Amino acid sequence: MSKTLVIGASGQLGIELVLALQAKHGVGSVHVADIRVPENEQVLKSYFLHLDATDEETMTKVLEEGRYVEVYQLAAMLSATGEKKPLAAWDLNMKSLLNVLEAAREGWIERVFWPSSIAVFGPGTQKKNVPQDALLDPTTVYGISKQSGEYWCRYYHEKFGVDVRSLRYPGLIGHRSNPGGGTTDYAVEIYNFAVQDLPYSCFLKADQALPMMFMDDAVRGTLELMAAPRDSIRVRTSYNFSGMSFSPAEVGESIRQHLPEFALEYAPDHRQDIASSWPESLDDSAALHDWAWESRIDLSEMTKVMLEACRAKTIHTTS
Ligand code: SER
Repeated sequence: MSKTLVIGASGQLGIELVLALQAKHGVGSVHVADIRVPENEQVLKSYFLHLDATDEETMTKVLEEGRYVEVYQLAAMLSATGEKKPLAAWDLNMKSLLNVLEAAREGWIERVFWPSSIAVFGPGTQKKNVPQDALLDPTTVYGISKQSGEYWCRYYHEKFGVDVRSLRYPGLIGHRSNPGGGTTDYAVEIYNFAVQDLPYSCFLKADQALPMMFMDDAVRGTLELMAAPRDSIRVRTSYNFSGMSFSPAEVGESIRQHLPEFALEYAPDHRQDIASSWPESLDDSAALHDWAWESRIDLSEMTKVMLEACRAKTIHTTS
């Protein structure tokens, strides 16, 4: 029986990955950990550990005793919040990863997943179709921690044979969980406003295109990466991982195909500076080549699904 631990299980990606892992391996084979209790009944059907991922002593104990086959280490502070608390972001993002890598070096974990991000790129990186080996040029503490984390992953793989795998996630858009503290979060909020007939004031400018991905694609890709044969994983920093690319104006337009009255305004704030430093689109052919990655869902399909799901949720919570 496969035994999996998801650390950071209360976050936007954590909740979705736990649901998919439960469906794949069974509720009993998945353990979930976070410093906050997950706000999702189904997630809580798995064994929950209240855990501070930066606490080396407790992490060592949990990982030594747990002998997990796979550990997904997702605990992190995202780009916008990280700029408000730079040292805390560095501390959380690095210690949580190193605690897991150390446990894997000891031989207590077979495979580790750790998310990187488009935030590793910056002003010196080309804007379109960024290649796998492009210049990393992060301007945020979050991005610096992801860049360093990528090299720590490769270091543990090369020096100690740790099987750690990683993806550079774009902005993730889903309806089963809420994002928090990210620069791409507008792309989730906008749908929740639209279904309530509320105008949305976007914190990025109209034409700020960024790489984005529908959550179902992101979760499927993550599980495909983790299921791939060890030898096929040639990138041990982190894979470019691409879905779609759109701007706030374009997502607004796709919402208006269904809700013609939807009103969208723009009030760019500090997050605009972060977004301006990131690329618009990535070349993910290394992922296609090594483990057959292909995204399936485009903007118009995602908009249809998001509007339906967000509408159902609104009706459910207001009735
Ligand atoms: N979605 C993340 C953020 O906006 C990027 O990885 O911080």
